[in-house]
Amino acid sequence: MEIAETIQSVREEVKAAREKGKKVGFVPTMGALHIGHISLIEAAVRECDFVVVSIFVNPAQFGPSEDFEKYPRPLKADLEICKKAGADLVFAPTSEEMYKTENLTWASVEKLTEGLCGRSRPVYFRGVTTVCTKLFNIVMPDAAFFGQKDAQQAVVIKRMVADLNMPLEIVVCPTVREAGGLAVSSRNEYLSGQEKKDALLIYKSLQKCYEMIESGEIGTASIIAQMREMLSRCPAIEIDYVSIVDAETLQSLEKIRGRVLAAVAVRLGPARLIDNIVVDVGKQ
Ligand code: PAJ
Repeated sequence: MEIAETIQSVREEVKAAREKGKKVGFVPTMGALHIGHISLIEAAVRECDFVVVSIFVNPAQFGPSEDFEKYPRPLKADLEICKKAGADLVFAPTSEEMYKTENLTWASVEKLTEGLCGRSRPVYFRGVTTVCTKLFNIVMPDAAFFGQKDAQQAVVIKRMVADLNMPLEIVVCPTVREAGGLAVSSRNEYLSGQEKKDALLIYKSLQKCYEMIESGEIGTASIIAQMREMLSRCPAIEIDYVSIVDAETLQSLEKIRGRVLAAVAVRLGPARLIDNIVVDVGKQ
């Protein structure tokens, strides 16, 4: 496995792979890699011949009061994980390499970024779409792999790629969970033992949602009320949102129909945690 710190060396490595006729897969990450990231790298290895992983804590997607400074950066362990998972190249640039001069050009997606996480994280999606555009232009992959864990991010990236005719496929992989159902996240590292137990309520509330839909409930207001009630059993959980939206347009739904995304974001101690499920009830 090669490690590149400069844009130029990534371009050279990828060019050499392409000249050998290899299909290039790409997994963008912010590091602190865990089994969720590994599942993406493994999917890329299955579907592609040359797999690039980027590790870059992107300052542009953190708000001033967010955790940019304290975001974990265990680079050595991350490189081992990439190697074991079968990556061919890791791109781990400095901020100076990625943002050489003040950034004046942004890629931003409208409407889809207004609700859900966009409401409480106003600069987040603009930072994500801009860094992904930069990374796609650097790596020029045939396919890039994202996790369903960040459902809104995946929808936004897919839309940007479609709207701007970017020549790559976006593959969305399932959320990897811990034994009790907690979605694996780099931010779980911030949680104490008790907080990790409390965090199980997030997935439980999503399961409740699933059960209610399965049993025929179509009113989203009553499903959301039940989910909120469940989350509020733990006083340490501060709800940011509990939403049920169309899985593609991300518009709020009053009634369950088609493919719906039930998404939850909470603050728990030092962490902001998100999770979601998609339920497809088809045409009704
Ligand atoms: P990061 O949070 O490191 O996540 C990188 C990728 O891993 C994302 O596509 C995310 O959805 C996926 N992922 C995280 N936890 C997962 C889990 N439990 N199961 C499956 N996939 C999971 O998302 C970002 O970084 C950044 O915004 C980035 C796209 C790299 C742009 O900076």
